[in-house]
Amino acid sequence: MAVRQILGFEHPALREKSKRVPRVDGSIVRLLDDLAETMFAAPGAGLAANQIGVALRVCVVKGDDNQVYHLVNPEIVKGEGVQVGYEGCLSYPGWFGEVARYETVTIKALNRKGKGARYKAAGFTARAFQHELDHLDGILFTDRLTSLDSLRRVEELEADDEEAV
Ligand code: NI
Repeated sequence: MAVRQILGFEHPALREKSKRVPRVDGSIVRLLDDLAETMFAAPGAGLAANQIGVALRVCVVKGDDNQVYHLVNPEIVKGEGVQVGYEGCLSYPGWFGEVARYETVTIKALNRKGKGARYKAAGFTARAFQHELDHLDGILFTDRLTSLDSLRRVEELEADDEEAV
């Protein structure tokens, strides 16, 4: 396990569409562990592999319940409702912006053992899932702002308990 460098939003790796993982082997498990360690060190609530320069469909999310989700080839199978709120990104440190997301999502993915799994989440965890899955397609939260005017420094927000993802 190692803490890896997190690339900034201006790095071209953040705009790559990541490739599907053909098989969950030891290198993918190590990648998941590095992502989790780097996420906790940041600290943040989610991190995608391309943020550390690996263009594979792999990410981690720390849920509201502090569960760490290890996601390989994740896909949204169902999204319902709308939540509008502020979110930030570890590749865009210090800034938050208002983004509309599904309120609840169901995700299917391979877990760290290479087995198919489904996860249903609401609220912040659902937001973090959607944010990380966007990263795998080269999409940043700044592409989805409700308004460019909503982008602000973290210290301007009253509720600064939000974590970047
Ligand atoms: Ni992010």
